[in-house]
Amino acid sequence: MRSPYEELGLAFGDATVPYLYGTGCTPALAEAIADRLGDADAILFVADDGVRGHADAVAAGLRRRVRVEPVTVEAAERHKTLPTVHHLLETAVARGLTRRSAVVAMGGGTVGNIAGLAAALLFRGTRLVHLPTTPVAAFDATVSLKQGVNLSAGKNLAGTYFVPALIACDLAWLSTVPRHDLLTGLAEMVKNVLVAAPGLESRLVPALEDPGAALPSLLEIGVAAKAPFVAADPRERGGALIFEYGHTAGHAIEFVSGGEIHHGEAVAWGMLIAAEVARRRHGLAADDVAAHHRLVARLDLPDAAARLGGLDRAAIRAALAADNKRGYGPCAPGEVLMVLLDTVGRALPGPPGGPPLVPVPVEAVMEAFETVALNALEAV
Ligand SMILES: NC(=O)c1ccc[n+]([C@@H]2O[C@H](COP(=O)([O-])OP(=O)(O)OC[C@H]3O[C@@H](n4cnc5c(N)ncnc54)[C@H](O)[C@@H]3O)[C@@H](O)[C@H]2O)c1
Repeated sequence: MRSPYEELGLAFGDATVPYLYGTGCTPALAEAIADRLGDADAILFVADDGVRGHADAVAAGLRRRVRVEPVTVEAAERHKTLPTVHHLLETAVARGLTRRSAVVAMGGGTVGNIAGLAAALLFRGTRLVHLPTTPVAAFDATVSLKQGVNLSAGKNLAGTYFVPALIACDLAWLSTVPRHDLLTGLAEMVKNVLVAAPGLESRLVPALEDPGAALPSLLEIGVAAKAPFVAADPRERGGALIFEYGHTAGHAIEFVSGGEIHHGEAVAWGMLIAAEVARRRHGLAADDVAAHHRLVARLDLPDAAARLGGLDRAAIRAALAADNKRGYGPCAPGEVLMVLLDTVGRALPGPPGGPPLVPVPVEAVMEAFETVALNALEAV
């Protein structure tokens, strides 16, 4: 009999993590999770408060096989903090989890990052199962080992790399993501194609036309673009840092907006800003800049002038100065390290033997920010 879900093996260095995915296969996935956790004595089931219906269905399936301890987390950047992780750890211990237990994280990238860090810390490492429910989480965040939370100075400043035991996604869970969020969430896919796999643009563009109907294909494109890099560099110290493309300005925008501008939207703008910086400082070709606009135009990002224009510039400068790539390479005061493209599909090299990160004056990023805020989207 044909399996109700497909299975990919994601390589992270020496580890291979199964990624089960299908559409309308929640009961079968719940069985598979219980099977693969084998001897687990309990599950801390951390659910995003935006996916209660989907989470109830999974938890009901799991409960037939194993004790489930549910806990809900509000998926908001302001809760992506160490106190929330601490709350999860205290809850896990208070409810009797042991080293044989597992943490299941169901939701978008925010809850995945919070619960992922809690799993890494609980008893110095507890089995982690990711159940992604947004495009960012399903097609990008879980195809990385990064678990992290924000500090008061900026995004993702505290965290670790942790290998999950399993990733499973019923793509039907993504059907409740509002269309705007679905499209902007695909910015990470656009990023993966622009930095690593321009050959996949011909598959990505038709998928962006009707993303709801193309989710399996989008998942395969996301994994195909990113997986070879994370396989070779699972801790993102070298080549895999290219997936930080768009994230320097993007993180600053997302952070300063207080999460009001969602991650995908911020990364999309961050890529346009990076392209503008590369055009001005490193001669990125007009065709390559146009490729950014062509793809980002498909993501439903109206009104850049109003949304970016309202952000506090001093706060953006401060967030850029606290960017979490600091220290990866030489960077003078007043500069920030960025992934910039030499051409679509190839990043500018960093210093010899170092990661592909280029120091850029914060003021040059701000100038590009203003251009994107005022002009770039009008030109699309
Ligand atoms: N670890 C990594 O490598 C990595 C990569 C990319 C992004 N991230 C992080 O992921 C976060 C962004 O994640 P996101 O874009 O998934 O957003 P999110 O997790 O912040 O969720 C956005 C909103 O969607 C809701 N939601 C989630 N699933 C839903 C569903 N199926 N139906 C309806 N609503 C749903 C949530 O409740 C929330 O209100 C950021 O904090 C970012 O830093 C991490």
